[in-house]
Amino acid sequence: MSILTNKHILLGVTGSIAAYKSADLASKLTQAGAQVDVILTGAAQKFITPLTFQSVTGCRAYVDADLWGNEAHVLHVTLGKTADLIVIAPCTANTIAKLANGSADDLLSITSLAATCPMLIAPAMDGGMFDAPATQENLARIKSRGAVAVGPAQGHLASGLSGAGRMIEPAEIFGHIRIALGRGERLARKKVVVTAGGTQEALDPVRIITNHSSGRQGYALAQAALDAGAEVCLITTPTCLTPPVGARVVHVKSAEEMLSAVLNESADALIMAAAAADFRPKHVAKEKMKKRDGIPQIELESAPDILKTLSNVNADKSKYRAVIGFAAESKNLLENAREKLSSKKLDFIAANDISSTDAGFAVETNRVTLLFADGTRESLPLMSKSETAERIIEHISKLLE
Ligand code: CTP
Repeated sequence: MSILTNKHILLGVTGSIAAYKSADLASKLTQAGAQVDVILTGAAQKFITPLTFQSVTGCRAYVDADLWGNEAHVLHVTLGKTADLIVIAPCTANTIAKLANGSADDLLSITSLAATCPMLIAPAMDGGMFDAPATQENLARIKSRGAVAVGPAQGHLASGLSGAGRMIEPAEIFGHIRIALGRGERLARKKVVVTAGGTQEALDPVRIITNHSSGRQGYALAQAALDAGAEVCLITTPTCLTPPVGARVVHVKSAEEMLSAVLNESADALIMAAAAADFRPKHVAKEKMKKRDGIPQIELESAPDILKTLSNVNADKSKYRAVIGFAAESKNLLENAREKLSSKKLDFIAANDISSTDAGFAVETNRVTLLFADGTRESLPLMSKSETAERIIEHISKLLE
């Protein structure tokens, strides 16, 4: 179950060259489990056909002629009333003007007027048209009624000019849709800090000691917290992943930097999903170590244990109300995890058997057992890291209730 499962999204497509990108958005939404009803304006059909959307959504795409068809008198009301969210992407200056004025002269504008659900628009037009006082005033009016506008982005425009006018990319709109749907969910008005990735401990300006953590579980947790309506801060080491839309990202490298970042924040919950180093080089060479100088002897020292340090600072829960850890173990999973649960003073810990090939580091799936401070436990089956994250977020929601 994702935030989009069984959600009803009404996707309005208007006359901009960015209309071709909306097919990708419709496809992403459908694959995520949403029912996507598409309405194309007349101008949108100059750029893309209803068939394109029908092919990716498996549902009928509507055009103005449908207003006068068999379902005539109720179509716009039905579409408007059953939608969880109206998304208009791309949204032209003309459509923004219609929405601002409550005009209802085509299926999309009539349906938008009849709908009572939240609305998200992704403006797309030439930069000059976007900056025009009329557009800005219209935009301000629809925003004051609760509509969310995302973008436009800066860049090359169809006119050959460059400026702010490009529709933001479908993946980014998709992220904003998740945020819009998450408002009012269980973690609304709550803040969650998530750490992710393997820390990097420098040997010299070129070399580092790190580990196999990909950051996937941490990024999935940040997304699941956003889906649940939380404000999210993602403290991450360098990874090849794209942070979820809406998360505030703090970049760190070493365990020391991660510790500072964790102590610098405060939130309802902290999820320490990062694989922080236990050891680091005692001396970091200022210059690159040269081969000709022979094989270096590297002396290690302890890196700070972030959770243990925090447990002293946070004894009164003034920084984080709930603290959740992970235990990466290759043997004696539950015994070791239970010891970490108590020594790091956690509310619960997700115990991870890293010896299996389908769970733990750098794979898409995970199999964890949650051990709670009250002695109870729950074993989750093998599932995607996103599903694992959703289950962990459910438990955090209960803890914070
Ligand atoms: N952790 C931490 N600071 C560290 C190392 C780990 O806060 N320097 C956190 C991890 O983010 C995780 C939990 O402690 O939430 C357990 O991490 P893990 O690597 O399993 O255990 P360690 O405490 O490092 O002990 P060991 O490596 O000996 O198993």
